[in-house]
Amino acid sequence: MTESGIVGGPISTDLDLEAEIQKLKKERNAVILAHYYQESEIQDLADFLGDSLALAQAAQKTEADVIVFCGVHFMAETAKILNPTRIVVVPDLEAGCSLADSCPAPELAAWKQAHPDHQVVSYINCSAGVKALSDIICTSSNAERVIESLPKDKPILFCPDRNLGDWLNKKLGLNMDLWQGTCIVHEIFDEQKIIDLKVNNPGAVFIAHPECEDHVLRHADFVGSTSALLKFVAESDHQRIIVGTETGILHEMQKRAPHKELIPAPFGDGTCACNECPYMKLNTMEKLYRSLHDLEPRLEMAEDLRLKALKPLERMLALG
Ligand code: 13P
Ligand code: SF4
Repeated sequence: MTESGIVGGPISTDLDLEAEIQKLKKERNAVILAHYYQESEIQDLADFLGDSLALAQAAQKTEADVIVFCGVHFMAETAKILNPTRIVVVPDLEAGCSLADSCPAPELAAWKQAHPDHQVVSYINCSAGVKALSDIICTSSNAERVIESLPKDKPILFCPDRNLGDWLNKKLGLNMDLWQGTCIVHEIFDEQKIIDLKVNNPGAVFIAHPECEDHVLRHADFVGSTSALLKFVAESDHQRIIVGTETGILHEMQKRAPHKELIPAPFGDGTCACNECPYMKLNTMEKLYRSLHDLEPRLEMAEDLRLKALKPLERMLALG
């Protein structure tokens, strides 16, 4: 039975969720890690807010007994791989990722087998099974550094994001073979609408995440990871910025640059919420409360898989 007197059912509307979460957090000696794509209430009460790389580093370092990971499944898996003695819970364990789903480990194993002379670089948005088959992991924050650290005489298989891979190929003058996965959020932006918006807003700059498609990135004045986009908004002189990434980031961007005008990049007919990640948004304050209360659902992993997935992650983290 929960404090609200309900098992599994609706939580009493009288419950002050934020206060209860703070109380439970102390009782459980828990730390709340949240990605910038979480709903703003969750971002505001997280102990640590970050992008994929920063969250992995925070998860590795924490000494809390419990990690409540407000992000998606592959992020929580990464936390467990890096810090296995902690209890890792996710408010909604069904929070997946279209990129991770695009690349089942057996299919990657077959791709590797067909290219035995290649090294495998996997974007962190992949399952532990895929990590275990990889030579090194990268995130959008460190992909260039990771790739530049590799032996130059060995060709590269890059998975699972073809847009990030294509952007890296162009930027670094490479010819990596690309897995054909995409992020369902970053591929929805509309090229023509972005061109029109720029024309109608002279002085506005367009910034975008490299998970966007090439025909959209072509119009970007700046391309960068979540944390790089955040830094651009906070530190550049531009006052009007069109933002081509998941809309949850606008919350922190606006906090860091309260007087700037931030315009979400246009997509479709604008009637859906397609610029919100449906997986990330599965986590809610109610589910966060429950996960802290019940210490469920937990992320568990077989030790042999964890150890295999740890190697390429440690190789990435050793680069700083
Ligand atoms: P970063 O946090 O590495 O920028 O990745 C964005 C993303 O899509 C996370 O799922
Ligand atoms: Fe995956 Fe895209 Fe959602 Fe990130 S925003 S978790 S890449 S589907």
